[in-house]
Amino acid sequence: MPPVGPTPVQPAAGRARVGAIVRAAESADLDALADLLANCFHDRSGWFGWLHPFFRMGIYEDLRIRIRRSPQEYRCWAAIAGPPLPPTAIAAAVPNELVGTVELSARSSMPLGWNGGRYPYIANLAVRPDCRRRGVAKQLLAACETTARDWGFQDIYLHVLDDNHAARRLYERLGYRCIPAIAPPLPWSFGRPQRLFLHKRLA
Ligand SMILES: CC(C)(COP(=O)(O)OP(=O)(O)OC[C@H]1O[C@@H](n2cnc3c(N)ncnc32)[C@H](O)[C@@H]1OP(=O)(O)O)[C@@H](O)C(=O)NCCC(=O)NCCS
Repeated sequence: MPPVGPTPVQPAAGRARVGAIVRAAESADLDALADLLANCFHDRSGWFGWLHPFFRMGIYEDLRIRIRRSPQEYRCWAAIAGPPLPPTAIAAAVPNELVGTVELSARSSMPLGWNGGRYPYIANLAVRPDCRRRGVAKQLLAACETTARDWGFQDIYLHVLDDNHAARRLYERLGYRCIPAIAPPLPWSFGRPQRLFLHKRLA
């Protein structure tokens, strides 16, 4: 799912590193997950504000089905604010509040122009804006990578928009590299952010 516009690159100085507990998402988390994803990936300004409840409802329903069915090679994680023990706590979040999420699934449908077989795919990585730059996404991605290894994969994949500088910096730093596009961009996508397909070898 594409994020809304480029995320500003911020300095990380002086921020706490720890504070989130990563656990499997449950049905009880659905409302908070849908709020977080809708807020992170859908603009609320102007006319989009009117559509926001529909985007949120769609996200809620999709997630509800995935979490309820919970196929064998599917995981959704929730990052929860830890206990308020300064300086390790996430200052802005109340303990047990949802601060981040990510999904991992084994896919067999190929991205355009790529033919790599079955692969583990990361989606819907999002961290609450006031809890960013504290290592939450890193923790969530570590959970994905460990699980992909447990499933027997040696590689892991995801998409990112080329103008999402924060996410690209995160992935770059964690060893994700772009797979060059085999097919040219679609004619109707010119001028819009391109989806980059990233890969990491799991050592
Ligand atoms: C991208 C996103 C998930 C990062 O979450 P986060 O919890 O802030 O990331 P982390 O704190 O784990 O960052 C780890 C490292 O990634 C890099 N990084 C993350 N955000 C960055 C930013 N805004 N600017 C520069 N580097 C950044 C840094 O190297 C950072 O380490 P540092 O803080 O020690 O410098 C978050 O900004 C987000 O939810 N964005 C909106 C949704 C989105 O774009 N999701 C990704 C879709 S592909």
